[in-house]
Amino acid sequence: MPGSLNDSRSAALYARACDVLAGGVNSPVRAMRAIGRDPLFIERGAGAEIVDVDGNVYVDYVCSWGALIAGHAHPEVLASVVAAAAGGTSFGAPTAREVELAEEVARRVPGAEMLRMTSSGTEAAMTAIRLARARTGREVVIKFAGSYHGHSDGLLAQAGSGLATQGIPASPGVPAATAAATVVVPWNDAAALERATEQHAVAAIIAEPYPANMGLIAPRDGYLELLRAQADACGALLILDEVISGFRVAPGGAGERSGVRGDLVVLGKILGGGLPAAAVAGSRELLEMLAPVG
Ligand SMILES: Cc1ncc(COP(=O)(O)O)c(C=O)c1O
Repeated sequence: MPGSLNDSRSAALYARACDVLAGGVNSPVRAMRAIGRDPLFIERGAGAEIVDVDGNVYVDYVCSWGALIAGHAHPEVLASVVAAAAGGTSFGAPTAREVELAEEVARRVPGAEMLRMTSSGTEAAMTAIRLARARTGREVVIKFAGSYHGHSDGLLAQAGSGLATQGIPASPGVPAATAAATVVVPWNDAAALERATEQHAVAAIIAEPYPANMGLIAPRDGYLELLRAQADACGALLILDEVISGFRVAPGGAGERSGVRGDLVVLGKILGGGLPAAAVAGSRELLEMLAPVG
């Protein structure tokens, strides 16, 4: 296998990395343990291909875990990034580009009247949950086993992504009280969802509408509609986490493709064209609960 030789540059970088980065990587999925090897260190990418530090070329089916719908270093994306960076990268003050991006997202994503942008999907999902709790005055959040909504405390229970592949059931360091406010339900299981909404005062049901963090497991016919119906029946908000499905399964994401509308939609990765950007979107009424208006 290319890159697996102990004298490879990837192996040398990994050894150095293990001295200064926990596990030699900055995200468990990059450790590549699930595919039984040490990590490859990537030098560059162009279009559908990446090249590692040993010069091996790969067709990249990962595409930065979904962020790069236009492939690596797309000339138009690159030109925009370079032009923007030349004018400064961070101001701690609003810019016209944020407004333009928000308008475009609102135009495409069903139900997205307003947005609050963040730097990561983790923060956007946290904000969505906080909004749902504030709106309903309840605490319990239903999530689905194997789904991943970032690494905030309450959402780590039975998460997918790197945690599933490494078999870590939940994380030490998460307070018991926080974990207790998360109810985990098997995906595509209608009876379990119905039971959970009957047994708990639910603030939100959060779901990846086309879950990709446990392998791609499409919703059974009618399951997304059931999420909507159950949320309505118990007075909870439905949060569609479209960090991976957003703009991909349809221009407006799963909300457009399935016709099922989330009260809040979480967007990430792809929103920044490969740079860190994310957002929570929803109705004006909900979004205006956020400071400085709410
Ligand atoms: C569905 C989903 N939600 C949320 C997140 C968290 O996003 P971020 O890594 O930007 O914090 C991820 C990350 O992989 C994700 O796949």
